[in-house]
Amino acid sequence: MRAVVVDKDYGSVTAEELERVAAAYYATGIELSLLDYQVVAAQQKEPTEDEIIAGCKDAQIILATGNPPITRKVLEALPEVKFVQRFGAGVNSIDLDVAADLGVIVLNLPGFCAKELADVATAMIMGLIRNTNYYDREVRKGNWPKCKYLLPPDVRELTLGLYGFGLAGRYLHDIFYKGFGTKVIACDPYVSDAVKSQYPDVEFVSFDELVTRSDIISIHVILTPETTHVFNKEVFKKMKSTAMIINTSRGPVIDNDDLAWALETGEIMYAGLDTVEREPLPENDPFKTLDNIIVNPHCGSYGVGSKKTQIDMVCNIVPTAVATGKVPARCVANRGILDKDVGYEFD
Ligand SMILES: NC(=O)c1ccc[n+]([C@@H]2O[C@H](COP(=O)([O-])OP(=O)(O)OC[C@H]3O[C@@H](n4cnc5c(N)ncnc54)[C@H](O)[C@@H]3O)[C@@H](O)[C@H]2O)c1
Repeated sequence: MRAVVVDKDYGSVTAEELERVAAAYYATGIELSLLDYQVVAAQQKEPTEDEIIAGCKDAQIILATGNPPITRKVLEALPEVKFVQRFGAGVNSIDLDVAADLGVIVLNLPGFCAKELADVATAMIMGLIRNTNYYDREVRKGNWPKCKYLLPPDVRELTLGLYGFGLAGRYLHDIFYKGFGTKVIACDPYVSDAVKSQYPDVEFVSFDELVTRSDIISIHVILTPETTHVFNKEVFKKMKSTAMIINTSRGPVIDNDDLAWALETGEIMYAGLDTVEREPLPENDPFKTLDNIIVNPHCGSYGVGSKKTQIDMVCNIVPTAVATGKVPARCVANRGILDKDVGYEFD
């Protein structure tokens, strides 16, 4: 069998780690090609559909470290592909329905970096509340704005609103509720009653209530048509003028132009973004000139524990499937395929 790594996600997966994956694949008779990965890596961008098609002829497995477009066009042009393995949780760049129709199993790593995402959100929330990035910038410029700038509120008195109560949202709840005693509310129509019952202190509210009541909104949803641009001008107008918004999920959940407007006009007070709509951030992006915002280069998954889990899981999932015919159902992202007979058992 042949596998191809089609992209490089701005350094989140190293060449050495891919060599480890290649060795694990090789042990089960899968030849892993890094050639296309190196070509595309040099360009520092996601590959195009045509580049993926050209690089994956005869491949049965596509490995996606970042979020390359695995679209209908790509999947239909590569009929031999059996597996698409992402090195992360988000699968928004892959057409899951078409993959299921064509019998392609899309694999991801659910929750591999949920703790890290909660940690990044925490760092941003506390950094913004305590003005740490602003003070650091000013001190480096030669200024000493002692006890100036935004007067920090007491985080213990605030309401933290979680948009999405999955693994990352729950870790963030633990940090703020158990650590500071912060009131936590959450909006997630898909969370089960069994999960809700484990969090008796959390108030589950409607989206409108989340928006109007929260002092801090932290976004932890998957990117779907339903969650795209959910935070826009109309929503920012409803938020408190002292509110903060944090996004460690996917850039397009927030309309970034509308967010720049909301920060410039004082509709909300500050923002912390690990992901933005246009990555990397363009030269003249307004986010680069605003003081009341922290932007990270989509590195929320970066951490000792998450990296180990990530590479261990990738080394294991497809080789085990090829060797035993068994695929771990919790790692199958296109759930529509679970009821189909595609030659593998889901357990
Ligand atoms: N910044 C990064 O580097 C990075 C890395 C990995 C993942 N992520 C993103 O972080 C997200 C959250 O991670 P996670 O581990 O908590 O995922 P998760 O799958 O455990 O949780 C996602 C939650 O979103 C909820 N949800 C879906 N649609 C919703 C809607 N319309 N309204 C409200 N809630 C909705 C789901 O019910 C689920 O509880 C991922 O989906 C991924 O997009 C970012």
